[in-house]
Amino acid sequence: MKDKCIVVGITGGIAAFKICSLVSSLKKKGNDVHVLMTKEAEQFVTPLTLQTLSANRVITDMFTTDFTPDVHHISLAKKADVFVIAPATANIIAKIAHGIADDMLTSTFLAAGCEKLIVPAMNTGMLENPITQDNIATLKKYGMHVLDSASGYLACGDTGKGRMPEPSVILDAIEAIAPGERYLEGKRVLVSAGPTREALDPVRYITNHSSGKMGYELAKAARNAGAKVTLAAGHTELADPVGIDLVHIESAADLADAVLSRQEENDVIIMAAAVADYTPVHVDDQKIKKSEGEFNLPLKRTTDILKALGENKKEGQVLIGFAMETQNLIENASKKLSAKNADYIIANSIADAGAGFGVDTNIVTIISKDGLNPLGLLSKEETAEKILEFCLKKGK
Ligand code: CTP
Repeated sequence: MKDKCIVVGITGGIAAFKICSLVSSLKKKGNDVHVLMTKEAEQFVTPLTLQTLSANRVITDMFTTDFTPDVHHISLAKKADVFVIAPATANIIAKIAHGIADDMLTSTFLAAGCEKLIVPAMNTGMLENPITQDNIATLKKYGMHVLDSASGYLACGDTGKGRMPEPSVILDAIEAIAPGERYLEGKRVLVSAGPTREALDPVRYITNHSSGKMGYELAKAARNAGAKVTLAAGHTELADPVGIDLVHIESAADLADAVLSRQEENDVIIMAAAVADYTPVHVDDQKIKKSEGEFNLPLKRTTDILKALGENKKEGQVLIGFAMETQNLIENASKKLSAKNADYIIANSIADAGAGFGVDTNIVTIISKDGLNPLGLLSKEETAEKILEFCLKKGK
């Protein structure tokens, strides 16, 4: 998401300080960011901080003596692509649910016809109060998006629901609703991501270095393009993406179940997971005790999920696999295209600096029956967008 006009309304809650990092991220991505603050919000974070981060004047006052040739709240309302209120107090939620427009933030909000995201943050009792719940239901009824509050320690000393989700989650929610080309509207996309874990005993498992980042970015890019997305993910440190059906898996066998049982209903399946090829023949129910000498661990093959998908590929279904290689990248990856009956194989070499595990960038080549298409060094987010456009956008 870039070149969008994002209006960020900040109201008076302690979580307001976290919005500085949201504004900074939105700006860094190349968006035009405008901040509106209530006077209560100014008690928690200064307009100057947000003005510096957004590189736009922060609006706090309805009546200003500064000359502006247009009516500011109307012009901003017209150019906004997304209007987000975060943190949204119980008070602002009540006001906007009833069309009250008694300051610059609420007036601009009422005038705006763009996508709207509300991020409640308050004490658990205030959030769970049926009045607040009714007001939230009203916002949803009018087509606004309301982000679920997180649970945990609250500034008032209580522990419970009402925490504002992290700025990275809010950013993800904004990206999910920002206007864009919805070339996957009506399509169902299944993505697998992250590592599998093959248990030896209750304490140990065999796994790999996959961070899941590439698969998560693919799932988000498909969602942003309008698809209904399911993400089958192994253990990662990544935040749950907004608006995506997330299925947690542990082992290669779990992933095989999760993916193969959903093959029929999906138009596109992307196997970005790093799946174990072998699993222990026997899983001990007790911790394996050490003894002298070598320890041999018999392993058996797991299901090759992509191959099984390829064997049952339905008419028009698109199968995309990955190939991470340490040598003979193109040759080895190209073999996987035919061996697994995939439509595309995304080849990457962990030998290249800036590609592979853990890092935020990647260097991939898209292999299809028509040849090779190298993408060069890009962020994983951009790599995901380019892969989807190349493989799935008609008339590209
Ligand atoms: N894959 C799969 N099931 C497995 C192993 C891999 O579906 N049991 C998928 C991966 O998600 C990836 C593709 O197959 O999309 C290629 O995975 P990779 O590990 O590169 O290759 P393998 O098929 O396992 O072959 P090899 O280990 O010999 O390179």
